[in-house]
Amino acid sequence: MTEEPTQPVPATTASKLADLKQRYHEAVDAPEAVALEKQHARGKKTARERIEQLLDAGSFVEIDEYVRHRTTAFGMDAKRPYGDSVVTGTGTIGGRQVAVYSQDFTTFGGSLGEVAGEKIVKIMELALRTGVPIIGMLDSGGARIQEGVVALGKYGEIFRLNTKSSGVIPQISIIMGPAAGGAVYSPALTDFVIMVDKTSQMFVTGPDVIKTVTGEDVGFEELGGALTHNKISGVSHYLAADEDDALDYVATLLGFIPDNNLTDPPVYDVAPEMETTDADRQLNTLIPDSPNQPYDMLTVIEHIVDDGDFLEVQPLFSPNIVIGLGRIEGRSVGIIANQPNVMAGTLNIDAGEKAARFVRFCDAFSIPILTLVDTPGFLPGTDQEWTGIIRRGAKLLYAYAEATVPLVTVIARKAYGGAYIVMGSKQLGADINLAWPTAEIAVMGGQGAVNILYRSEIKRATDAGEDVHAVRTKLANDYTYNVASPFLAAERGELDGIVEPAATRVAVIKALRALRTKRASLPSKKHGNIPL
Ligand code: HXC
Repeated sequence: MTEEPTQPVPATTASKLADLKQRYHEAVDAPEAVALEKQHARGKKTARERIEQLLDAGSFVEIDEYVRHRTTAFGMDAKRPYGDSVVTGTGTIGGRQVAVYSQDFTTFGGSLGEVAGEKIVKIMELALRTGVPIIGMLDSGGARIQEGVVALGKYGEIFRLNTKSSGVIPQISIIMGPAAGGAVYSPALTDFVIMVDKTSQMFVTGPDVIKTVTGEDVGFEELGGALTHNKISGVSHYLAADEDDALDYVATLLGFIPDNNLTDPPVYDVAPEMETTDADRQLNTLIPDSPNQPYDMLTVIEHIVDDGDFLEVQPLFSPNIVIGLGRIEGRSVGIIANQPNVMAGTLNIDAGEKAARFVRFCDAFSIPILTLVDTPGFLPGTDQEWTGIIRRGAKLLYAYAEATVPLVTVIARKAYGGAYIVMGSKQLGADINLAWPTAEIAVMGGQGAVNILYRSEIKRATDAGEDVHAVRTKLANDYTYNVASPFLAAERGELDGIVEPAATRVAVIKALRALRTKRASLPSKKHGNIPL
């Protein structure tokens, strides 16, 4: 639409500069003042405030602040704000270049129409072309209802670009308000989703639609709040206490990951102690004498990584497996560890999927993987079998088997059955496999094996009125010592060495040093067919 000029056409250079100033004011300063009032009233920051806080001071360069929508339907031509409903641009975090977009809920509810979609696509394409992380801050009512199919089409373009960028540049989504309808699927395709407690929600269909279709009564928070998606659905990777916490988490996260798939993660200058320290020796007393007694695997992780500094990812979802990032000798390492403190470290569907996606993230971005094992096996039961532990559990096998980054595995205690194989075993492609003398590697645990192998012996003891518990315990201990001993695995070269817990930190440093020059590749193919 051609607009009538509202003021004299600027003819001189000075008047053109003044015109620019005026338009910039209209595009940025004036709407920002309005946004500030509206967002602060809701306990939220504005789109630009979020960007300013995330990026290094003064580094933000905004683009497309003068774009305006072209819709005429529903009287939309009466309101054509500059910039539309999203702020986009580039800047730095810790001196490293990134691209960002931040949705402005105060303009059409942050909804995505043609022009807002074009802005997001443009900045995503720039990030991909220049090989830098893209960070999206979402606060949106979804597809712009007035724009119909055009808005839907833009979502399609964004999803396609998310997919194209996957494994090429890191993609991070911070949900800082509603993310409704189509707005949820772009984050779902990105590597990390951070949600702000109480003020963010993600849902494909909202409470009203649910009520109409299924009769179910559910509120926004219960349906798709930050706690729900961090604890129950596993959609989100971090539950931020507030917006500041969310932005801090992203900055910390970026410190572990590279700009793109062709560069290495940042390396920090750290000279580790190469002798066994008192702190190392604490690990020698961590494993309880009773195999049924749990302990906290986070203690092991904190004793291995530099300064005990571990950034856990998805801590609230399926906590029977721990995933996260740390540094060893100043270099990033992805850690995957069973957690004996929760469900004895059993592997279930959620744990398998959580770990599989993380293995693939690390592998895509050249981050070596350290696997710490203590699991009695897969969780038995109809619930798991019927919801697909076979096909869904296979993802973790697939992820490890296709990984080409350095893989180091340490078996701390139990490694039974399929869980032994899946948790970074030698045969699946791990480079260096170590075990503690407390390790038990077998088809199943001693008690289970005795029930099958010594059924008649136990019946005889029962009939003879002997102390069956004592007989069973002795047989189980014999089995564990003779069959499940890590020395048997070491004898066959399935393990590369047995180390005492106190020597683990130094052993892992040396293993990762040895693997720094690892070269591995997969046969050329269009893509594999991971079981989904
Ligand atoms: C246009 C929208 C909008 C949308 C909100 N607004 N969502 N405008 N398109 N999708 C506008 C509102 O009209 C209002 O404008 C302003 O944004 C603020 O919205 P409120 O409703 O007042 O805010 P609040 O009460 O906080 O509720 C936020 C909300 C709600 C929960 C997001 O607005 C809502 O339910 N919106 C619709 C969500 C939705 O169903 N989206 C479409 C999904 S389908 P004014 O002018 O009054 O300030 C979809 C398809 C893609 O996305 C699927 C791909 C797979």
